Order: sequence, then C-alpha cells, then structure tokens
Amino acid sequence: MSEINDLMWVEKYRPSKMTEFINQESAIKRLKPIIKNSSSMPHLLFTGPPGTGKTTLGIIIAKSILGDNWQDYSILLNASDERGINTIRNRVKTFARYADNREKVPFKMIILDEADEMTNDAQTALRRIMEETSKACRFILIGNYISNIIEPIQSRCASFSFTRIEENELVKHLELICGKEKIIFEKQALLEIFNITNGDLRSAINLLQSCSSLGNIDMKNIERATGHSFKSKVEEILELSLDNDFNMAREKMSALTNIYGLSEKDFLKYMNEAINRNKYKEIKELIEILAKYDYRIITGSNPDIQLTALLAEISNLRKK
Ligand SMILES: Nc1ncnc2c1ncn2[C@@H]1O[C@H](COP(=O)(O)OP(=O)(O)O)[C@@H](O)[C@H]1O
Ligand SMILES: [Mg+2]
Repeated sequence: MSEINDLMWVEKYRPSKMTEFINQESAIKRLKPIIKNSSSMPHLLFTGPPGTGKTTLGIIIAKSILGDNWQDYSILLNASDERGINTIRNRVKTFARYADNREKVPFKMIILDEADEMTNDAQTALRRIMEETSKACRFILIGNYISNIIEPIQSRCASFSFTRIEENELVKHLELICGKEKIIFEKQALLEIFNITNGDLRSAINLLQSCSSLGNIDMKNIERATGHSFKSKVEEILELSLDNDFNMAREKMSALTNIYGLSEKDFLKYMNEAINRNKYKEIKELIEILAKYDYRIITGSNPDIQLTALLAEISNLRKK
C-alpha cells in the first residue's frame, strides 16, 4: 500500500494537517472550535462534490482529536463497499466495545464514507447504531448529496458542505506539486486541467500525474493524457454494462460526456477499440449494437438518449 501511495500523487500530497488543506474556509472556520472542544463534539456530516477534501478532512480531524494513536481509535468504512448494514453494525459494535480508553481519548471515531449511497432502510438502522453507541463513538458521515441523507440523521449531525476547489487555488496547488516533482509546466496547461476537472482536485492531480509521465505539462501532453484516461474510462463503462450495472455505467457515461466533454463520436470509437482489444465472448453482439447506435447518432438522434440506450442494450446481454 505504501509503495502505491508513494507512486500516486493524490496520496503523496494528501494533506495530513489542517494548514495544508486548501479551499473550504467556511467549513474549517466552523470546525476549528468544535475540534478544540472535542469532548462535546457532535456527529459530523460532510457533503459535497468529489475530490474536494471530505475524506481527507475526516482523517485530519480524527488525528487531531485522537492524537498519535488515532489509528487504534478510529475506523474508516466505506458504506458502499461493506456488504449491507449488518456488517456495518457488527464492525461498529465490535469497535465500540474493543480497547479501553488507555490513551484518554474522548471517544472513538467512525468515518463512514459514501453514506449517501445507503438505502433509506440502512440509514434508519445506522441512526439506531449511532444512538446505541453514542457514549463511546462519534461518527463522521461523508457523501456527495445531502438530499440523499435521511432527515433524522441530518438533524443529529453538525452539517458541513464542501465546495468545488476554486480555479486559482487549484492551479496554485498544482504549481506546488510541479515544483516538488521538478516538472516543467505551462500555466495555460494548468488552467486547462482546471477546466477539464471542474474543481475536483483528485481528478486534477491524477491528470497532472498522467500528463507528467508523457513529459512537460503542456497542452499537447494534456490532450494525449486525457485521450488515454478517456479510453480506460470508456472501457470501465463497457465492463460495468456487461456486468449488468446499468445505473453506474450510465452515471459514468454521463459524467464523461457532460462534465469532461468527451464527444459521443469518441465515446463510440473508444468503445469499439475496447471491444476489439478484450475479445469478449459477446463480441459479435457488441459490434452489432455499436454499429446500430453509431448509425443512429450519425443520422442526428439525441446522442445522450442513444448512448444511454446503448448501455441498456449491452446490460441485457448477460441477463438470462
Ligand atoms: N481541500 C483540499 N486541500 C488539499 N488537497 C485536497 C483537498 N481536497 C482534495 N485534495 C486532494 O485530493 C485527494 C482526494 O481528496 P478526498 O479528501 O479523498 O476527496 P473527497 O473525499 O472529497 O472525494 C486528496 O488525497 C488530496 O490530494
Ligand atoms: Mg472521499
């Protein structure tokens, strides 16, 4: 893990202190007194777009409240990875019970990422778990959309909304990384990274890193790097559809075309390449489906609807 972390700039440059954290001034300002007076800290709820520092800040808070042994007294769970609410309940309960407070920590902390992807029933159960363990544990719940968090949980948490990283802060941060990595950059290219990634610092740093593996950070290499990452994203969408995960495939496709600006023509081109490269057993059906939608899009049908229908049709292939 640590080797991967060394290689991945998002991890290498993940802030470990509040002072390294950028943007999000209003959340930080409200959080500081809460952390200072940690014994009366409420549960926290962080929501906002990806790559804006929610998980990072959760970890920083755990560190600053729990001190050197923070890892013994906190756990980071991913609600969408853990199989169901029962697993979460068991892990939280075991954790709440385990280890006495030798280090004099005020409580144990549970950082629950992607909490907004839990079903309403699971969230209702979570609310009960929060109540049952409230003496020993504090939760930091994290998600993209506050509207997906049930009201009874919202009302039990101090809520903080994170905003997309501003252009000048994001560019300054990338300049800092370029300086530390001793890579040559064009300012215009960093601005282009901001435009492509839309204030998502994780994506911006990833793009910076893939671009740097091609040479200097200039417009030409950004174009090459995005082409490259578009290709792997389209391949991922194809595989999600084949695995019958239509909703996730559609969401990623829509992010790629609407947010990252990939054209439908390139989407189909990269999908065609992925199909040929991977030699799926459904290759004949896949090519026929692709040809059908390629034709429909060329003749002027609404590309968004057509690409969604394409994914729906692929999703049905392995359904029996
Ligand atoms: N506000 C921030 N200040 C500094 N770095 C950030 C910030 N937000 C995100 N990052 C960078 O992006 C990466 C992903 O951040 P993360 O906290 O996981 O985002 P989120 O949980 O909001 O999706 C971090 O490892 C860090 O490199
Ligand atoms: Mg996160």
